[in-house]
Amino acid sequence: MEQLNREDTLILAIESSCDETAASVVKNGREVLSDVIYTQIALHTRFGGVVPEIASRKHIEKINQVIEQALEDAGVGLSDITAIAVTYGPGLVGALLVGVAEAKAISFATGIPLVGVHHISGHISANYIEHRELEPPFLCLVASGGHSHLVNVRDYGEYDIIGRTRDDAAGEAFDKVARAIGLGYPGGPKIDSLAREGNPDAIPFPRAKVAENEYDFSFSGLKSAVLNYLNSCQMKGEEVNRADVAASFQKAVTDVLTEHSLHAAESLGCRKFAIAGGVASNSSLRRAFEQECAARGIEFFYPSPRYCTDNAAMIGAAGYYEYKRGVCHGYDLNAVPNLKL
Ligand code: KG4
Ligand code: ZN
Repeated sequence: MEQLNREDTLILAIESSCDETAASVVKNGREVLSDVIYTQIALHTRFGGVVPEIASRKHIEKINQVIEQALEDAGVGLSDITAIAVTYGPGLVGALLVGVAEAKAISFATGIPLVGVHHISGHISANYIEHRELEPPFLCLVASGGHSHLVNVRDYGEYDIIGRTRDDAAGEAFDKVARAIGLGYPGGPKIDSLAREGNPDAIPFPRAKVAENEYDFSFSGLKSAVLNYLNSCQMKGEEVNRADVAASFQKAVTDVLTEHSLHAAESLGCRKFAIAGGVASNSSLRRAFEQECAARGIEFFYPSPRYCTDNAAMIGAAGYYEYKRGVCHGYDLNAVPNLKL
């Protein structure tokens, strides 16, 4: 049994916005007592991406087991839980609905308060778990399969988006390029490992700038450049060095993300910079940020890969600060697929 003090705040967190069914118990916003993830990746791989209908059905099948496991691993019961935090957007509507309905049902049956959490707020809050000293304000780059946002974290749960992608998210570009060079889904980790064998300077892929907002990103031109390069090789009958393509593409994404982010950090006078989201587990991106932040005297924070990709512990960390701010949702809480931060 977990040793608890009366003043401890325990959050039971649920995440089901995409293809991971996850539950976690988090103590006082920073200490993960359990972290259970049932990943559906293998189910979706044969289709080359997430199939929403399959994701929803699998969430329904797994969610009770995952929650029971999270409580058991933490050595606590529902009577120890202070609040239930659940991702209610953005994400796939059918997938989100499973988590939201489950959280509402537990809350209704037990009277435990319900706290809806924004998925991006969760990704950002993943940084609180392993960096107990990290407190806002700081600047955070959130780069995942669905989002590429540069966020000014003014305070806990208070965000200003200062830059965003105009087209594809960074993770989406990784997934599409991986598919084009025959690596399969999800592309990010596969490109990351193949790139280790390639030359990042072999192919000069473009680094796009967006004229109207210097902090915005664009990845569709880069993606098209990779596809054009592959087509022209095929037409000329030249063999493609896939490791060079992976390394050169990864370098282009890394350059764009680091340049824009650090330009923003310097212009806004931020002394602390964090990264979050699935793409934040990319080894080249982490290394580049580490070097560039160190060169500018900016403190750099990043979560372990496990807390970069979707998980419920990050929702528990975000949910704790929402609860402390007095956020409490009613049973009319609904899934909001395009929820704004
Ligand atoms: O945060 P996440 O799990 O889900 C969303 O909220 O979208 O991010 C998943 C994305 C996928 O596009 C995946 O290819 C990418 O993160 N990803 C990576 C790496 N690991 C995951 N991209 C680059 N390098 C990685 N090592
Ligand atoms: Zn995510």
